[in-house]
Amino acid sequence: MACNVLIFSAYVVVMSFFLCSVHAKVNMNASFHLTSGDDSLRGRSLESKKVVFDVRKHGAYGDGQHDDTKALAKAWAAACSSSQPSIVLIPKGKRYLTKHITLSGPCKSSITFMPCTEAPTALTFYSCSNLKVENLKLLNSQQIHMSVEDCTDVRISSLTITAPGTSPNTDGIHITRSKNVQVTGCIIKTGDDCMSIEDGTENLHVKNMVCGPGHGISIGSLGDHNSEAHVNNVTVDTVRLYGTTNGARIKTWQGGWGYAKNIVFQNMIMENVWNPIIIDQNYCDSATPCKEQVSNVVFKNIRGTSASKEAIKLDCSRND
Ligand SMILES: *[C@@H]1O[C@H](CO)[C@@H](O)[C@H](O)[C@H]1NC(C)=O
Ligand SMILES: *[C@@H]1O[C@H](CO)[C@@H](O)[C@H](O)[C@H]1NC(C)=O
Repeated sequence: MACNVLIFSAYVVVMSFFLCSVHAKVNMNASFHLTSGDDSLRGRSLESKKVVFDVRKHGAYGDGQHDDTKALAKAWAAACSSSQPSIVLIPKGKRYLTKHITLSGPCKSSITFMPCTEAPTALTFYSCSNLKVENLKLLNSQQIHMSVEDCTDVRISSLTITAPGTSPNTDGIHITRSKNVQVTGCIIKTGDDCMSIEDGTENLHVKNMVCGPGHGISIGSLGDHNSEAHVNNVTVDTVRLYGTTNGARIKTWQGGWGYAKNIVFQNMIMENVWNPIIIDQNYCDSATPCKEQVSNVVFKNIRGTSASKEAIKLDCSRND
């Protein structure tokens, strides 16, 4: 099957996953830091207390030919069983081929290799606290590039995520059931949402992002299949969007319930965006009345050009 290539990179090409993407399920208490960089990182810019696990020390070839799945799993396992905060180091300037793998926690537990079945999320962080993800380049995931689920205290910065504008479901960063998350300085060009912010997101701060092509920054969809969803306290600040379908969007399905509240979209520049500002509470055709509450939403200092005649669409549900 045609699987995707993922490139993790601090500077140029560092890591490419082949055959299938990596599905990293991490569940750990220790702070975790997946990074790529050069050797000089060690000792110098990394905090000295953190233990470094270099994939090469665990048998990775990094020649773009050998399968380095095991080496990555080993490095991850070692990091995971360390009692100290650890770093998995993916050295700069090499290509690492890996198959689809699941790196599971809680730490010290075994690592499972999953068969390559359906199009997976490239990188999933699951149940992490104090997670820091920085300087990665993710390329052509089959679906969502990076998903943050059930995490608290997360800092994501300087990611470059790229997939063709025509590729379906290739969200950049997906966040759900997570609290206290900062996303800064990422460049995301994909075929779906730049960021999708979903149920259970609380205290999210997004800053200095560049999006497009793709579907823009979206809160929701919330409440699909009559489910309950809560999103609270999301700030999206200083974002440039180029040629995206939406700019700042909140979408809820009819029939769901819960709330999306305390949301700020500010300092956004949009160029040629089809729906620059859109709240769509009737996302799904359904006769069931909508119980989703969207409240306290601020759009401030948003400018640019709209590709459609309506720059602002507020399609709210009837309050019944
Ligand atoms: C994290 O640590 C706390 C106490 O130190 C423990 O109760 C909890 O089960 C741990 N969580 C995981 C996922 O290991
Ligand atoms: C809202 O989230 C931000 C982080 O984005 C946090 O600093 C702030 O304290 C939160 N506000 C409330 C009322 O919880």
